[in-house]
Amino acid sequence: MKNIGIGLAGFGTVGAGVYENLERHRDLIAERSGYVFDVRRIVVRNPQKTRDVVAPAALFSNRWQDLLEDSEIKVVVELMGGTSEAYDLTVAAIKSGRIVVTGNKALLAERGAEIFAMACEHKVPVFFEAAVAGGIPIIQSLRDAFVGNRIESVHGILNGTSNYILTRMQEAGLDYPEALAEAVKLGYAEADPTLDINGWDAGHKAIILAALAYGFWVDPATIRVEGIDRVSAADIHFAKSLGYCIKLLGSIRENSGMVEVGVAPTLIPLGNVLASVNGVFNAVAVRGDLVGDSLFYGRGAGRGPTSTSVIGDLVEAAHGLNAARQTYGFASHSLYGSSRPASEIVGSYYLRLSVDDKPGVLARIAGVLGEAGIGISSVVQPESIAGVETPLVLMIHEATYGAMCAAIAKISALNCVKGEPLLFNVEALS
Ligand code: HSE
Repeated sequence: MKNIGIGLAGFGTVGAGVYENLERHRDLIAERSGYVFDVRRIVVRNPQKTRDVVAPAALFSNRWQDLLEDSEIKVVVELMGGTSEAYDLTVAAIKSGRIVVTGNKALLAERGAEIFAMACEHKVPVFFEAAVAGGIPIIQSLRDAFVGNRIESVHGILNGTSNYILTRMQEAGLDYPEALAEAVKLGYAEADPTLDINGWDAGHKAIILAALAYGFWVDPATIRVEGIDRVSAADIHFAKSLGYCIKLLGSIRENSGMVEVGVAPTLIPLGNVLASVNGVFNAVAVRGDLVGDSLFYGRGAGRGPTSTSVIGDLVEAAHGLNAARQTYGFASHSLYGSSRPASEIVGSYYLRLSVDDKPGVLARIAGVLGEAGIGISSVVQPESIAGVETPLVLMIHEATYGAMCAAIAKISALNCVKGEPLLFNVEALS
């Protein structure tokens, strides 16, 4: 057995899970991999805090620099989150020649190009299985198992918290704040759940998947990312009556030589397999030109699943110590052109309005859409239900997102339209 010294930055849900499970499965991991992982230092903001996972007090420190001052630490595990100190630690670790294992999706989505350029320069790999979809091995699958495929599309339910909330709203009739409080209590949401709710946790993950599928880092400022905060019980009900359920879906695809990435509440057919992905579960559907359709399913958040991915990366890192490599966790290339700005992406939509119950209203709305060259594929005027008076639902078959936004601005200004129109995507996933 070979001992590998590791340094842990962060001891929250994931960091504590890594420590606990390295201890619990020490023998199993050693027998299977040939390595014993020795946590030599744990960096946290407050070393004195009482924690539910107990580790020797002497391991704790509040200086990340300590990880780099111990020459026996060969792998730095960055699970502190955020993009400031985590960036400084990651860069310093790479420059010091240490392998980095990270679960930090925001950091990679925002600065992945720079971090991997540095990793190549210093010939130090960075592994990040825990950054996307908790315990599902989607990073290794896209990067290694599907290396021989052109990836046509990746669709994913990528945020466990949002999926948990939508499921609880749908199945138990909970309202949004109650469902969110449950997700926080269960340790699914981030310490600050803002990014779970506003869609950016899934947005960061979609950018990472797109990078692996297409070889470059899409600029977060150019993509459309919306969270589930405007999904209401009424919309879940209307969608169901049309044969759909609502999921927060990450959509990544190559289309006519350009890469399209976005995250939004999306109506998907009830019969599609992704419609039955509920609770904290995530799923990623990958379509490759050789492999066809593949589906990855598993828990997207929580201590056990996410530490599973970190421990897998630790073994990968240990194999990589002192071994010559051609790539360093992500290989950039320019075989897929560039990314298409959100406003130019063509999609199908669910547009829900609240309107005056008077003759001529539909004609005025259809007139605005018609002038913009946007065709309506169906119109439904469901019964009013709690929270939405005189609803009007329009299904739009094909329009650019930019054209939809411009038309919605005009529709909002009509005096027969009340409140803010709601626009969700529709994906046939065929
Ligand atoms: N807060 C995240 C989620 C955890 O709910 O999916 C995993 O990134």
